This record gives sequence, C-alpha cells and structure tokens, in this order.
Amino acid sequence: MNEPFKIGIAGLGTVGAGVVKILQNHADLITKRAGRTIELVAVCARDQKKDRGVDLSQCEWVDTPTDLAAIDGLDAVVEVIGGAEGAAKDLVEAALDKGVSVVTANKALLACHGFDLAGHAEQGGAALYYEAAVAGGIPVIKDLREGFAGNGITGVYGILNGTCNYILTTMQETGRDFADVLKEAQDLGYAEADPAFDIEGNDTAHKLALLTALAFGVKPDLDHLPMKGISHLTAEDIAYAEELGYRIKLLGIARQVDGKILQMVEPCLVTAGHPMADVSDAFNAVCIEGDAIDRGMAVGRGAGEGPTASAVVADLIDLARGHHVPMFGIHSAQMKDAQWMDADEMYRGFYVRLTVRDQPGVLADISAIMRDHNVSMEVVLQRGHDTGGPVAVTIKTHKTRRADIMAALEKLAGIDSVVEAPTCLRMEGF
Ligand SMILES: NC(=O)c1ccc[n+]([C@@H]2O[C@H](COP(=O)([O-])OP(=O)(O)OC[C@H]3O[C@@H](n4cnc5c(N)ncnc54)[C@H](OP(=O)(O)O)[C@@H]3O)[C@@H](O)[C@H]2O)c1
Repeated sequence: MNEPFKIGIAGLGTVGAGVVKILQNHADLITKRAGRTIELVAVCARDQKKDRGVDLSQCEWVDTPTDLAAIDGLDAVVEVIGGAEGAAKDLVEAALDKGVSVVTANKALLACHGFDLAGHAEQGGAALYYEAAVAGGIPVIKDLREGFAGNGITGVYGILNGTCNYILTTMQETGRDFADVLKEAQDLGYAEADPAFDIEGNDTAHKLALLTALAFGVKPDLDHLPMKGISHLTAEDIAYAEELGYRIKLLGIARQVDGKILQMVEPCLVTAGHPMADVSDAFNAVCIEGDAIDRGMAVGRGAGEGPTASAVVADLIDLARGHHVPMFGIHSAQMKDAQWMDADEMYRGFYVRLTVRDQPGVLADISAIMRDHNVSMEVVLQRGHDTGGPVAVTIKTHKTRRADIMAALEKLAGIDSVVEAPTCLRMEGF
C-alpha cells in the first residue's frame, strides 16, 4: 500500500466540517479511488472547543493557520477560512512556498491574488486546486483546465450565485417583490445577514474572473469586470420579461471576439426555452463554448456544505493520485494581460422600464429621444392608467449599440415626465 496522503485543514465551518465528514464517511471508497488513504493530520479554527459534529480526536490542533504549513511531512493543506487577505492568504502563500499543495474554496482570495499565487505554486513545485471556488457541484474548473483543453474557448457564461437565482426564481413564481423574497431567503439560510456581496454581483464577479482566466489564459482581473446586481429589479420587471418571452437571470459572461475579451456580471433577459432560463431555485449553471465541442452546459448546486466539500475532496483525491496541473491550465509565464473589449460597443437587444407621469405626449417624447440616439423600438408596453400619476412604460429594443441606449436613457432620465431612474437590462439569446 502507498504511503498515506497527509493533510491539514484550516477552517472548520460549513465547508471544513463538511470535508471532514466526507473523508470519514467515505474513507474506504476514497482510499480505493486515490490509491492511498487520505489522512487528516492537523486542523485549525478560531474556537478549539466548538462542537463541529465530526470526530477530530486523532488530529493535532494548531494555533494559527500558518502553523499548518510548518508541519513536517504534510502533503496538502485545505484552506477553507475565507477572505481575500489575512490568515487565508498567509497560509496559502506559506504552504505553496514550502512545496505543500493547497486546495481552497476561496474565490475572493483567488480572484484578487490568483496570478501571484500561481507563481508561488510554480516556484514551490506545488499544486493549487480550487474546484470548490466556482459552482462546487459542477466540475467546471476541471472542464476548462483539462476536459476541454483541446478547444479554443470562445465563451463561458452562467448562473454562478445560488442566492440570486433563488430570489429571481421565487419572484417569478410568486409575483412577490425583491425585499420580501430576500427576507425569506435570509430566514431559510440561503442569503447572508449582510447579503450585499451576493445580490450586488461581487460573488459572481469573483467566480467569473477565474473562469475568464482559465478559458482565455489571461490574468484574473476584477478591474475590467463591470458588475451590476439584482437589488433594483422589481416584480414588474420579472412579469414584463415573462410577457415578452424571457426570464431574468443574473449572469456572469465572458466572451472572446477577435482577440478581445469582454467579461461582465449583470442581470439579463434570457430567452424562455433556452436551458439557462429553466435553471431554478438555488441551482447554478455553466455553459462553455469551444471550437471543437460547440456548446456544453452543466447544472448543479453551487454552494452549501455537500457540493462544496465534494469538490474539495475531489481535488484532494486528484492530488493523492499524483495529478498535478498548473492553476490556470498553463504556466503563469504564458498568461498575459487581456485586451479588453469596450462593453459600450456591444450590440444587443435591450429591455427598458421607465416610470413616467401619465400625461399626453409622453410616448412621443420617448420615441423622439430613442430615434435621436439610433435606438429602434420593437415593442412598447404601457399597462394601467393614472392621469398625472406614475405608470410604467416598458420597451424592448431591436439590436442596439450599448453606448447609444445608455445615452438615450441619460437623456430620458432628465425629462420632467420621467419620474424614476430607468431600468435597463440586456437580452441574451445565446
Ligand atoms: N459555504 C459555502 O456554501 C461555500 C461555497 C463555496 C465556497 N465557499 C468558500 O469556502 C470558504 C469557507 O466558507 P464557510 O462557509 O465554510 O465559512 P464559515 O462557515 O464561516 O467557516 C470559516 C471557518 O474558518 C475559521 N476561521 C476564520 N478565521 C480564522 C482564523 N483567523 N484562524 C483560524 N480559523 C479561522 C472559523 O473558525 P471558528 O469556527 O472557530 O469560528 C470557521 O471554522 C470561504 O472562502 C467561502 O467563500 C463557501
């Protein structure tokens, strides 16, 4: 029998305790698959007295996460503390520098420092694996890094945040408003007490930055990743979108066209009938387009103890087997700064919702401004009537240059009869 593969785990919260459970419950299966036992040698968390619901009696407790990196004979460290800076970063750097491989679920750390950490891994001769950092229940990192390695990737996009998808699906199914559904999601434990990171798009952006890097061999770059969340969406938007034949989804999208890359996170109208439109509740979905495979899509749970811990354990089994590939699929010396596409030059159909004063001539004013900015309207909907009061006017445009629709909306926002900031969403037919 081969020598045991010795690991330490930093962080024993949702993910860390979940990893210990899988390692203990499936010990025999994992040994067969890895060809050797995976032995949990040491752990670290803030509170050594807390009951984690798992047996840690055979493990050494260390005082600080970086102490794990100092243990002699350790093959890998699992970092599931979280945070882009501080204890998590210190541990990952220390382990990699010492030649100890790292498995992490920490998308914030990797999106901010992934390129530097890839350098640490290469210099230390260690591996840095992170399947759990993006859509844990879908092996998308492995797909991009290995399974589709024979393709020129042209696009990768998807629903990468389960909290947002749960909120949008529930709004659509029940007709309830955003704030009401968010509160329910918090009560059910789907959304954090401070939900900003999820609902404003940051979490999706961190994941997308990693997918862009893997897909196109460029450095992860949050500075060139425009981001919009879902907190401004109303039940009306969901209903109008449905009436027009679409569902609203928060998408992370990265595409390469003529050597330039566009990556962005924003809620989009997805054509009803596209498999992405039917992905409901807290599920994630990732679609990859390549010149040999055409298009492949996978759906699964992106967060929670089971799916995330499952991805961590899969990485550990790979490492125990001796599997070792560069963090982004290519050596970091070959990764370049991307040439970014200007999102304003993109042509798409757009959905616009205006709240206007219900008075004669408003539609004529809107039409004139749209015409002056080269925006051609395909559908205009006005429901309800409230003389002098606010009513919604919803517009679906033909394919339009983004810069033009944005200029038209800026103009519209300034006229007296438009009483609220316009909502504008792009349409994705894929
Ligand atoms: N939860 C998910 O569904 C999910 C999904 C995908 C990715 N992730 C990522 O996985 C990572 C962990 O998430 P989680 O949900 O498991 O977090 P969590 O439940 O809050 O657990 C964090 C753990 O880290 C420990 N910790 C925090 N600061 C520490 C420090 N300075 N020194 C030692 N231990 C420290 C905590 O110790 P105490 O328990 O003693 O307080 C706790 O055990 C994050 O990067 C997150 O983004 C999570």
